[in-house]
Amino acid sequence: MADVQLDWNNLGFNYRNLPYRYRAYWKDGKWYKKELTGDATLHISEGSTALHYGQQDFEGLKAYRTKDGSVQLFRPDRNAARMQTSCERLLMPQVPTDMFVDAVKQVVRANQDYVPPYGTGATLYLRPLMIGVGGNIGVHPAQEYIFTVFAMPVGSYFKGGMTPTNFTTSNYDRAAHKGTGAYKVGGNYAASLFPGQEAHSNGYSDCVYLDPVDHKKIEEVGSANFFGITKDNKFVTPKSPSILPSVTKYSLLYLAEHKFGMAVEEGDVYIDDLDRFTEAGACGTAAVISPIGGLEHNGKLHVFYSETEVGPVTKKLYDELTGIQFGDREAPEGWVQKV
Ligand code: PLP
Ligand code: COI
Repeated sequence: MADVQLDWNNLGFNYRNLPYRYRAYWKDGKWYKKELTGDATLHISEGSTALHYGQQDFEGLKAYRTKDGSVQLFRPDRNAARMQTSCERLLMPQVPTDMFVDAVKQVVRANQDYVPPYGTGATLYLRPLMIGVGGNIGVHPAQEYIFTVFAMPVGSYFKGGMTPTNFTTSNYDRAAHKGTGAYKVGGNYAASLFPGQEAHSNGYSDCVYLDPVDHKKIEEVGSANFFGITKDNKFVTPKSPSILPSVTKYSLLYLAEHKFGMAVEEGDVYIDDLDRFTEAGACGTAAVISPIGGLEHNGKLHVFYSETEVGPVTKKLYDELTGIQFGDREAPEGWVQKV
């Protein structure tokens, strides 16, 4: 490591302007001027569709420092594929998987002194982002786009990290039933700001959204998917057209089944049937696994395992997942890529 000195153990989840980011421009069917730049500011037309009509999408993935000092990515091809589906939904151009992964690797290499040391639990978070730009005012897709990837070292997303925290259900929805919930687009997050702030000001880590049709089933957290462990050791996670297909969630589902021999289920998770779970958590790239101590709904707090201690299955899944991500445990074929 060179001489970058940060408080690696207390980074939180904050923006930081690092020396380099990748940028590419799209016009007339082609990406061009694909290169690293030191300029953290985007200069775009006031008529850009990203500004008016939310024509933008993004991704989130991490680079991990391993014990031998090398750096690796966790399933970047999955993020590339998800961005392709988001772009398809919003009529934006595709970033081919090779270009996406190459851009991410270039940004990690260029900012390698900011990849936190092994053992701190901190990582380099990467934020690929695409916006529709150019002069427009009608509700039509833009004729020009910018794809950029920037990075910052991060620690825990939720304050507790692996200590359980409490969440609350929300009366609001983050996405419509067949809207854009399954795509990583800014509008979903704009819709979650007000309910998220309400949850925070009431002392909760975040909201758990219910299904937008009749508010009977758990969907997901505003920034992570939900999972529960049943009394008979089944890994259960909601299935819905309005939740984001989490790379972390599908990785945990795979590990639960193939590494730990657990039964797994993607299905309905009714809010009035939480007694079936002995443990619950929020999972995602930023959240990693954040145990849910209690979930407040209609004035009642349902405690899963404990408000202060992480449950054994959640801990086992966390150790396996992070062990793979930091290179301490063997990864299933194709899950990690050296930078
Ligand atoms: N759900 C939402 C709404 C998210 O923003 C995220 C974060 O990306 C996730 C779930 C978790 O997805 P992933 O595990 O791919 O990061
Ligand atoms: C992620 O986990 O990568 C996210 O995008 C969640 C949140 C920071 C929006």
